Amino acid sequence: MDKNAFNAEVNPTTLKDFIKRFGPLIKPYRFRAALGLAFTIPLGAMDGATAMFIKYYVDNVVVAQSARWVSLLPYIIVGYAVAQGALQYCSLYLNGWVGNKITTDLKEKLYKKLLTFDPQFFDTHNSGDVVYRFYSDADTASNTLINNVKLFLTRGVSTISLVFVLLYNSWKLTFIAVAVFGLLVWPMQTVRKKIKKITPKLVSSGSDVITSYNETCGGSKTIAAYNLQDYQFKKQRGILQNLFQLSMKMIKHTNWLSPLMHVVVALGVAGVAWYGHHLILAGEITMGNFGAFLGSLLLLYTPLKSIGNSYIDIQKAFLATERVFRILDYKPKIKSPEDAKIISGVKKGISFERVFFEYKENAPVLRDISLSVPVGSTTAIVGNSGGGKTTLVNLIPRFYDIKSGAVKIDGRDIRELDLFSLRRQIAVVFQDNFLFSGTIRENIMLGNPHATASEVEEAVKGAHLDGFIAALKDGLDTHIGERGVMLSGGQKQRAAIARAMLKAAPVVILDEATSALDNKSEAIVQKAIENLMKNRTVFVIAHRLSTVQNADTIVVINEGKIAETGTHEELLKNGNGAYKNLYNAQFKEKKKKQNPAKSLPLFEVFEESADEK
Ligand SMILES: Nc1ncnc2c1ncn2[C@@H]1O[C@H](COP(=O)(O)OP(=O)(O)O)[C@@H](O)[C@H]1O
Ligand SMILES: [Mg+2]
Repeated sequence: MDKNAFNAEVNPTTLKDFIKRFGPLIKPYRFRAALGLAFTIPLGAMDGATAMFIKYYVDNVVVAQSARWVSLLPYIIVGYAVAQGALQYCSLYLNGWVGNKITTDLKEKLYKKLLTFDPQFFDTHNSGDVVYRFYSDADTASNTLINNVKLFLTRGVSTISLVFVLLYNSWKLTFIAVAVFGLLVWPMQTVRKKIKKITPKLVSSGSDVITSYNETCGGSKTIAAYNLQDYQFKKQRGILQNLFQLSMKMIKHTNWLSPLMHVVVALGVAGVAWYGHHLILAGEITMGNFGAFLGSLLLLYTPLKSIGNSYIDIQKAFLATERVFRILDYKPKIKSPEDAKIISGVKKGISFERVFFEYKENAPVLRDISLSVPVGSTTAIVGNSGGGKTTLVNLIPRFYDIKSGAVKIDGRDIRELDLFSLRRQIAVVFQDNFLFSGTIRENIMLGNPHATASEVEEAVKGAHLDGFIAALKDGLDTHIGERGVMLSGGQKQRAAIARAMLKAAPVVILDEATSALDNKSEAIVQKAIENLMKNRTVFVIAHRLSTVQNADTIVVINEGKIAETGTHEELLKNGNGAYKNLYNAQFKEKKKKQNPAKSLPLFEVFEESADEK
């Protein structure tokens, strides 16, 4: 995928964008959201009422000494607080529910999207990046924004009610109180720019931290074996220090906003106190007016002092929102076309027609590959390491798309096919197979979730895993740990073969499926693989030649090009051919070796077969 489209500079979402984007997410819960927000109205208005109350208190109690007022006062104060508390709880509960629901929905949506991303995305983005963008950003985006929307609404209503109190008591003082905020326009813009500049670095540094944790889990044995504790610690400390520097940079350049607000507020209060005094002396306002005004002004200013921090949070959340929606907007390149054709099997065969492929621009990995594989035949792919064998077979299930040429199934370009149905036709056993945490049964049944118990047993037998499973206390229901860590390499490969068998796909790809095994297990797995290959169209990358030499066609790939094609016998006849050279090189090596059991499997089989003859 185009890395730049994803990582390019992000502009903060505008409020309009935000509403447009979050609207559909909020819609299903609009009634609850509206109710939750409705609670903020009385809550905000109560601030105004509190301030106004000061006027009556001063005029009736302090000045007029009304006995009835004095006796009622305790009830009013406590009752008021209880009502306020109850409203607050309802508002918190409802808004919390809606907020969390939306965050959950957003994360589901993001995860669903992640599952559509092509392998190239995962080649170029590390795990920390994925967790950060798909998990943390979603939290930041929806939680921060929802909390602040709530805050702003409460404050909004409260501000309106308080401004009414201000205006009621003195419009002249109100003018002074409000005018000072003009001083804040420039600082807010400055802060916004700084946040936009620092955030991408913070995101990248934050994802480095997560990646490092993931690597520490996955590479724990390598760390132990090479005594890398110190090395890893220094690396992690470097990342954390970098994060610290960036966080401090953010604080240094943005967190002066709140203290500045504090000063601006003080200016406002000072102006009001000074001018208010004149107005009282001039008889324009009463003492009560002035008290209510000051009370309401302080209630108004208190949240404003902290709004500097909210403003910073919101700017950060807008940036996170933009990153989140960039993910949702991204269109994976490898997907079914509009008028996709659904296939339900392979009838004639698979062909590569003048295929060129590159992972990175202008670094061709496969060049001019043409190959025709009839249905039901076995094609072996051999050649030196890094030559492009894996790349070639990865093109068949469309893990990657080619640069030019075509890969066809029954004469139809695979890019015209429905991706799901294409992949339904193919069972892949990789060199390094991924097993999920869970039981052996669950892992095998990934090949076919609807398989019956006896079908699973059959696949287990076919993969020669039955002996191992019989020895386990919990049998097929044994838990195997994350990535299947509790299984040996050979057991993992056999589980993967059982999974592929259960899939019963017409096309089978075996990419060095036995490379991780010792000779004895390899011989066992070899039998399993032969079971898997029966009546299928098979692509096999192997160095064990019993599979290779029996193949209908052997393709030798070197440096991304087909060097030779033919059967075992044909290729051996070619005196100076690539296959013959490969064979000779390994044969000589075998001669030199003292311990034949440890020889390369390739010519061990050559010898076996020579013995047979
Ligand atoms: N995901 C990838 N991104 C970029 N380059 C890759 C990727 N996978 C393999 N390559 C490169 O492509 C070339 C062919 O690799 P591969 O097909 O794995 O070789 P083989 O299976 O024959 O050993 C190698 O040079 C390798 O470095
Ligand atoms: Mg390979």
